[in-house]
Amino acid sequence: MSDKYAVCGNPIAHSRSPQIHSFFAKTLKDDLTYTTLLVPPGKFKETVDDFVSKGGKGLNITVPCKLEACAYADELSPYAKAAGAVNVLKFNQDGSVFGDNTDGRGFIYDLKRLNLPIRGQKVLLLGAGGAAQGLIKPVFEEQPLEVTIVNRTPQKAEKIAAECGYPLQVTGYEQLTAGYDLVVNCTSTSLRHELPPVPQEVLRHCKVAYDLMYATDEETSFVAEARSLGVPHCIDGLGMLIAQAALTYALWRGKTPDVNLSIEHFRSHA
Ligand code: ATR
Repeated sequence: MSDKYAVCGNPIAHSRSPQIHSFFAKTLKDDLTYTTLLVPPGKFKETVDDFVSKGGKGLNITVPCKLEACAYADELSPYAKAAGAVNVLKFNQDGSVFGDNTDGRGFIYDLKRLNLPIRGQKVLLLGAGGAAQGLIKPVFEEQPLEVTIVNRTPQKAEKIAAECGYPLQVTGYEQLTAGYDLVVNCTSTSLRHELPPVPQEVLRHCKVAYDLMYATDEETSFVAEARSLGVPHCIDGLGMLIAQAALTYALWRGKTPDVNLSIEHFRSHA
């Protein structure tokens, strides 16, 4: 029988993970099944226990279960600890459960793939939710010149900066001035075709504008805005999504899928 994997969350029907992992398995000639698992409110542990009892080998975790998945794991990777969130669980033969977070490393992987290394760069993170928090450790490991975080609710950014253990700088949207090399949209604004309140001057003068959100039918609002301002590299989160999935697959299966091939495939099969 083939090994069983799934992505769990609520809602879950929209998830692209089954297509991505099935594509990986096909290209690697690997035998597995990958489905979606709806987690009813308050039923994370029961849902996961049931999946494991039926022989499940691994789960991807999405909204709103990433914190509960942290608590479910027996052992956490340093990235999961730093992010305070787990996006992948691995169920080991001995019954133990390992939790990791591959989102931030997927982001770094994508930038390297595009020949846009973070080393020596001035980085600005817009937003201070879970998505931003997951980037901090992986970004600092790349030795940026400096990293600044800005959030509509400043207290959240201040809390992350105080707790992350890195020299993360905090500012307000009104205080921002141009001079950043890489501006990363970690807010949820693109979901609603809105923009974060970052001054146009700041965006206009950066080299790379990266939106963690992606859209396959048209550009995200942030990517479209950056492109209209003449930013040389305007990138959405599809590459990061596929790279984090590839890192997950490697954790489970010990084989690494071809990220470039997969990105090409999913861009053209929207
Ligand atoms: P995620 O886990 O995906 O990061 P989240 O925790 O809901 O999602 O965080 C969403 C982020 O987008 C937050 O930083 C939020 O700002 P607040 O903390 O002030 O709520 C930010 N955000 C959402 N809509 C925004 C908007 N219209 N302008 C600026 N920031 C916005």
